Amino acid sequence: MSAGRAHFAQLSGDEFRARLREALDLYVTAMGYPAGTAEQRAPMWLTHALREGWRCIGAFADDGRLLGVAYGYQGRPGQWWHEQVRRGLVDGGVDAAEWLADYFELTEIHVHPENQARGIGEELLRRVLDGLPYRHVLLSTPEGPSRAWRLYRRTGFVDVLRHYHFAGDPRPFAILGRALPLG
Ligand SMILES: CC(C)(COP(=O)(O)OP(=O)(O)OC[C@H]1O[C@@H](n2cnc3c(N)ncnc32)[C@H](O)[C@@H]1OP(=O)(O)O)[C@@H](O)C(=O)NCCC(=O)NCCS
Repeated sequence: MSAGRAHFAQLSGDEFRARLREALDLYVTAMGYPAGTAEQRAPMWLTHALREGWRCIGAFADDGRLLGVAYGYQGRPGQWWHEQVRRGLVDGGVDAAEWLADYFELTEIHVHPENQARGIGEELLRRVLDGLPYRHVLLSTPEGPSRAWRLYRRTGFVDVLRHYHFAGDPRPFAILGRALPLG
């Protein structure tokens, strides 16, 4: 789909739940994951939507189809991702308190492959972070190079931790972060 402009809107929890299947299909397609991944992720995404500070932005086509989605929430001690990253920072000799004291975890950002390279991803990123009250934003992404990496570098994300292995996942990840606001 290349005709028409994308429209952006913040989704309420109810709107997100109503669109969950569509958002998961988009995610699985964008990441190139096997179809079964959607079922596996559904309960996790529903749980995320209940977390403090959860915010979700959707990009929509003129006919209402979802073209892209981004969401995140306030990172807190006790969350699996937070504890994994803390362990990595401490083991790597990085100041965990500086990064983890007050941050937004950008959990997911995906644009349907047919609609990538139109600026939709960057607009989703800017909108999901706009006006947030936290000192930092943090995210994890598979080690690059990739289009996601170009987006994060272009918007000022720096290395927090590289070649990190989350428990149970053989792939190396980077933890990237930056101060807020994005500017
Ligand atoms: C990462 C992802 C969300 C980025 O979304 P996107 O819409 O393709 O990305 P952008 O908004 O950055 O697109 C900008 C690209 O389009 C080009 N572009 C074309 N028209 C543009 C416009 N009007 N405005 C801005 N950029 C434009 C830019 O030059 C840039 O090119 P580049 O990627 O070669 O550097 C998307 O590629 C994706 O879903 N990837 C697969 C899933 C994934 O990796 N998710 C992140 C996991 S951590």
